[in-house]
Amino acid sequence: MDRLVVRGKKKLSGGVTISGAKNAAVAVIPAAIMANDVCITDNLPCIEDVKCLYTTLNKMGVECTYLDKHTLKIDSSKSVNTTVTFDEVRKMRASYYLLGALLARFKRAKVAMPGGCNFGTRPIDLHLKGFRALGAEVEVEGEIVCINAQKLKGAGIYMDTVSVGATINIMLAATMAEGVTTIENAAKEPHIVDVANFLNMMGAKIKGAGTDVIKIIGVEHLHGAEYTIIPDQIEAGTYMIAAAITGGRVTVNNIIPKHMESLSAKLTEIGILIDEGDDFITVDAVDRDFKATSIRTMAYPGFPTDLQPQIAALLSICKGTSMLTENVWEKRYQYIDELKRLGAKITVEGRVAIIEGVRELTGAFVEATDLRAGAAMIIAALSASGETVIGEVKYIDRGYEEVEKKFSALGADIQRVSV
Ligand code: EPZ
Repeated sequence: MDRLVVRGKKKLSGGVTISGAKNAAVAVIPAAIMANDVCITDNLPCIEDVKCLYTTLNKMGVECTYLDKHTLKIDSSKSVNTTVTFDEVRKMRASYYLLGALLARFKRAKVAMPGGCNFGTRPIDLHLKGFRALGAEVEVEGEIVCINAQKLKGAGIYMDTVSVGATINIMLAATMAEGVTTIENAAKEPHIVDVANFLNMMGAKIKGAGTDVIKIIGVEHLHGAEYTIIPDQIEAGTYMIAAAITGGRVTVNNIIPKHMESLSAKLTEIGILIDEGDDFITVDAVDRDFKATSIRTMAYPGFPTDLQPQIAALLSICKGTSMLTENVWEKRYQYIDELKRLGAKITVEGRVAIIEGVRELTGAFVEATDLRAGAAMIIAALSASGETVIGEVKYIDRGYEEVEKKFSALGADIQRVSV
C-alpha cells in the first residue's frame, strides 16, 4: 500500500503536460469492441482504470495490446465473451459502458454491477431505462445486469436527470439500433463529444453531441478506426488549482482551454492571473491575495463536480467565507474531515460547504477517501506548513498518471513510500 509524503510551502513553477482524459478513455475503449475490427486508441492516460479495462477486454477474448505506454491496439474480430463478471469489472464504475457496447453489437450482455467511488448511491437506472426504450429486456440479478434484445429499435429518449454515463451508454446502444434515436436533456461533457467523434470515425451517424439533443441514425456495422482522445479537463484543473494554492506560476500544457472556462473564471474571481493560449493555460498566483467566492457544481459547462474537492482545498485559505454547493452528487463531502485535520475551517449543511478561510494549513496524516478527494489532499498538503502523509494513494492512481513525478517536476517536495 503506497503513501505520499509531502513537505509543503514550496511554490510550484514550470510546465506540466496533461495526459489523455480518463473519462473519455474508459468509454472509448469499450466502444472499440463494437467494430468487429481493429481500433488504435492513442493518448490514453497510463492509469489504473485503463489498465483494468485492458485486463477485462483480454479476458473477454478481445485482443488488446499496448503499442506503447499511451496507445492500445484493440482487435475485437475474434470471438468476444458477452458475459463479463470478472473481478476487474467490479472495481470500476465505468465498466457499465460494456453493457452499451455489447448490447449494440451482440444484442446481449451480462455484466457485474460496477463499483467506483463511494460518494452516495450511484444508480444506473437511467442507463437501463434507455436500453429498455430501445427494445431491450433488462434483468438485474443480484449484482449482475443481464440484457437481451431480439433487435434494437431507435426511440426518442428524454433523460430525467442529466447523466454523463447514461448519455454515453444510450449513445453506444443506439449507434447500431434500427432507425433514429434522439437523446433529449443529454449531458454535454467534453468526453461525450470525444466518444461520439470516435464512433463517427468508425462509421456511426451521430449528430449533436455536446448539445442537449443528440441524434443517432442507427447503422448495421462499424469498422475499425485510429483515434486520439482529448486531454483530461479534470487533471488540468487539478494542476491549475495546485499552482494557485502554492502562490506559484505554472503553465499547464496540452489542454483545450475552452474546457477549463468555468475554473478559469473562478480562479480569476479569487484573484489569480490566468493567461490562455491555444493549447495551454498559465496560472500566475505569485504575490497574489486570494479572496473568498461562491461556487456551485453542475453539469458541463458549469463548474465540474470532479474539481469540487480540489477547489475546496484552495478556498480553505482564501480570505473570507466561501460557499461551495455540490449539486451533482448527494454525498461528496467525505473528504472535508480530512481537510479539517490539516486545519481547514469548514461546516457542511446538506449540499453546502461553508468554508472560512484560514491563514495557513498545517501538515498531518490524512487519507484519500476517493479519487478527487485524494487530489484535494495533495493540493492542501502542498500549501500546508510541515509534513503531510497521504494514505490510500491507490484511489489517486486510478485517475492521475505519475502524479508524484509530475508534481516533483514542478518543484513540489513529494515522495511515494510503500508501506
Ligand atoms: C461520470 O460519472 C464521471 N465518471 C464522474 O467522474 C463524474 O463525477 C460524473 O460523470 C459527473 O460529471 C466517469 O465518467 C467514469 P452521472 P457518472 O451519471 O456517469 C445520477 C471522476 O472523478 N444518476 O453524470 O456515473 C447520479 O446519482 C468520476 O472521474 C442517476 O440517478 O455520473 C448523479 O447524482 C467521479 N441514475 C447524477 O445523476 C443514473 O442512471 C450524475 O451522474 C445515472 C446517474
